[in-house]
Amino acid sequence: MKTSIVLSLLVAYIAGQPVSNEASNSSNVDMFTFPPNTSPVYASGITKPSTTTSYGPRYDEVSHLVPNLSTTTWGKWDPSATAIPTDSDDPYGQYAWTKMWKDAKLENFTYTPIYTTAVQASSVPSESLVLPPAEDVFTFPDNSTFPEDFIFGVAGSAAQIESAVCDEGRTPTIMETMFNRTLPQDYVTNDNYWLYKQDIARIAAMGAKYYSFSIPWSRILPFVLPGTPVNKQALDHYDDLINTCIEYGMTPMITLLHFDTPHMFVGGRDAQNISTIADAGTIGIGNDTFVDAFINYGKILLTHFVDRVPIWVGFNEPNLFLVDPMAIKNVIIATSKLHSFYHGELGGKGKFGIKFANGIAGPRDVTNASDVRAAKRYQELYFESIGNALFLGKDYPDSWKQTFPDRTDFHLSAEELKQVKGGSDFFGIDPYTYMVATEPEGGIDACQKNQTNKQWPLCLNATNYLKTGWKVGYRSQSYVYITPKHLREALNFVHKTFKAPVFVTEFGFPEWREGEKELADQLFDLDRSIYYRSFMDAILNAVNLDGVDVMGALAWSFADNWEFGDYNQQFGLQVVNRTTQERFYKKSFFDLVKYVQDRVPKA
Ligand SMILES: *[C@@H]1O[C@H](CO)[C@@H](O)[C@H](O)[C@H]1NC(C)=O
Ligand SMILES: *[C@@H]1O[C@H](CO)[C@@H](O)[C@H](O)[C@H]1NC(C)=O
Ligand SMILES: *[C@@H]1O[C@H](CO)[C@@H](O)[C@H](O)[C@H]1NC(C)=O
Ligand SMILES: *[C@@H]1O[C@H](CO)[C@@H](O)[C@H](O)[C@H]1NC(C)=O
Ligand SMILES: *[C@@H]1O[C@H](CO)[C@@H](O)[C@H](O)[C@H]1NC(C)=O
Ligand SMILES: *[C@@H]1O[C@H](CO)[C@@H](O)[C@H](O)[C@H]1NC(C)=O
Ligand SMILES: *[C@@H]1O[C@H](CO)[C@@H](O)[C@H](O)[C@H]1NC(C)=O
Ligand SMILES: *[C@@H]1O[C@H](CO)[C@@H](O)[C@H](O)[C@H]1NC(C)=O
Ligand SMILES: *[C@@H]1O[C@H](CO)[C@@H](O)[C@H](O)[C@H]1NC(C)=O
Ligand SMILES: *[C@@H]1O[C@H](CO)[C@@H](O)[C@H](O)[C@H]1NC(C)=O
Ligand SMILES: *[C@@H]1O[C@H](CO)[C@@H](O)[C@H](O)[C@H]1NC(C)=O
Repeated sequence: MKTSIVLSLLVAYIAGQPVSNEASNSSNVDMFTFPPNTSPVYASGITKPSTTTSYGPRYDEVSHLVPNLSTTTWGKWDPSATAIPTDSDDPYGQYAWTKMWKDAKLENFTYTPIYTTAVQASSVPSESLVLPPAEDVFTFPDNSTFPEDFIFGVAGSAAQIESAVCDEGRTPTIMETMFNRTLPQDYVTNDNYWLYKQDIARIAAMGAKYYSFSIPWSRILPFVLPGTPVNKQALDHYDDLINTCIEYGMTPMITLLHFDTPHMFVGGRDAQNISTIADAGTIGIGNDTFVDAFINYGKILLTHFVDRVPIWVGFNEPNLFLVDPMAIKNVIIATSKLHSFYHGELGGKGKFGIKFANGIAGPRDVTNASDVRAAKRYQELYFESIGNALFLGKDYPDSWKQTFPDRTDFHLSAEELKQVKGGSDFFGIDPYTYMVATEPEGGIDACQKNQTNKQWPLCLNATNYLKTGWKVGYRSQSYVYITPKHLREALNFVHKTFKAPVFVTEFGFPEWREGEKELADQLFDLDRSIYYRSFMDAILNAVNLDGVDVMGALAWSFADNWEFGDYNQQFGLQVVNRTTQERFYKKSFFDLVKYVQDRVPKA
């Protein structure tokens, strides 16, 4: 009896109802009443600003900076076509274009997307914008606010969402030609190339202001190299994508290269043995024709879109390419040159920068000098190998040079160091991991000299286990753990080391076996919701308590996608039905946006 009185009081209290006197009438205690229906609360969407902002000159004012661009249109490759294009004399004609696909030798290539032309957006039904129930086990009490100009949004990348790989002029990238063929390919992913309007409408309806996407170089320039013609269809497509963002009141943000290096840079090799993204660093970016070609491509995009796009990233996560020190040098040089072009000749008023993979590593035992050395090496290789020169004009860390004891070709001269200093406006970090480091068996010194050692070039034992034996945090489907305190450490590390604004350019969490659940349960993604809010909380603390200049945060990703051969690591804020391409909002999307909206500075 007593228990049920307490319970009914509790129910009434939770429901926010005044506790009626009748409840204390002992003959009424068994009369349970349900709490009333609550009226649905809807995601508020974003408000379109009344004025448009210009971030630089219009293309017609700066077209002389990319002289003599000829444009053309190639269309789509049909592997079953028997007719051979007749323009074999034209180095950039249909014949040459088709040959690039044929030479790529994609075994059993099929391309059957649901959509093959751009689809108009329909308005997002209000039923799908009802906030999920507040059944959280805990809340995040920090109600301090984000800085006024804090950038909050969502991100995606071309190869992971577009489909249309051989359509509208695109030519092969290493994602099609070299990615482990026994795994699902990127040929048909989310059909975002055709559904971008709907995708943008859905992000806007939810209330995320920034949309970060990447453009495939080989679609803009099918023949990749300087002096080759520009694809008119591609320019028009991304022009419309940008304008669509602006129409919905959103701000677009562009990455020039997100792992989809044009196949051309691997010299037409018929290779199929890239199984991880890190392997991709052995090829392509280190090619000695790469830098000039990348700058040419970058200038074409920058001049066309500088007026409407305020934030640019040159390279996505090039610090994964550590096995090839020439790739690292090329990244430093190319980034700084495009950065000077952007702020110099072009007169861009926004920001141009770079984003890095991984969070930091900590020593297994902070009192053990060997463990501390190991943790520092992790930061030196992953962040300082590029960051020292690009942000500080400082030489590579010794540990990085010592990893290639017989080579000097990748070293930077004093003159080069001077030129590249300050070549990025922000330090983007994709802090998916926190690692615990010790020296490898046999020690760092022996390993770094020995390229046949399995641990080379990192030469570390980096694990997810603390000294106590506990894991570092709650684990996702893949390599991501919920570690907000270590995120705060990482933000402090970057800010203190590189003295630049920090930008959390990706963060996201694939729930354990999410794809095996039924749709309604996939949508109730409490783990991801906790991940996002705990990480945003850490960012707030880094900003407000530690004084770290965090420029913004972009959630990865706005929808489940192709995670490089894998659809089981679902990082999305929306579920995608792979048969119908329909999208469904997950709870975490509502919770994350609300977390931010509750903490914008009051006007
Ligand atoms: C309790 O409720 C009964 C039935 O509604 C009523 O007759 C009685 O007077 C109430 N007693 C008290 C103490 O309120
Ligand atoms: C551009 O075209 C003009 C006229 O055809 C030519 O004189 C000039 O050399 C070209 N410039 C470049 C950079 O190719
Ligand atoms: C391509 O198709 C052939 C014949 O069906 C099959 O034997 C082969 O395994 C396929 N290769 C790949 C990579 O799917
Ligand atoms: C945060 O909440 C506390 C307690 O409710 C309140 O005193 C404080 O003014 C709030 N701070 C902000 C920035 O809203
Ligand atoms: C480097 O790239 C060029 C294309 O610019 C290509 O012709 C060449 O074969 C590549 N070199 C290697 C070693 O792959
Ligand atoms: C495949 O990988 C092996 C071992 O890493 C390497 O020796 C070989 O050259 C690669 N093949 C191609 C075609 O790149
Ligand atoms: C391809 O991926 C499978 C599954 O992860 C793996 O077993 C195989 O070794 C990979 N092959 C290559 C060539 O990387
Ligand atoms: C430091 O840690 C390493 C392993 O990480 C261990 O081999 C070594 O004995 C430790 N040194 C001390 C002084 O505890
Ligand atoms: C290099 O590493 C390999 C593999 O661990 C090992 O077999 C070899 O002895 C090492 N070489 C030297 C010179 O230490
Ligand atoms: C890495 O370190 C962990 C924890 O000290 C240890 O259990 C494991 O055997 C080490 N692995 C290697 C490859 O050295
Ligand atoms: C995708 O949608 C179709 C049609 O509504 C449905 O039959 C199918 O079960 C859905 N697939 C998944 C994995 O939910």
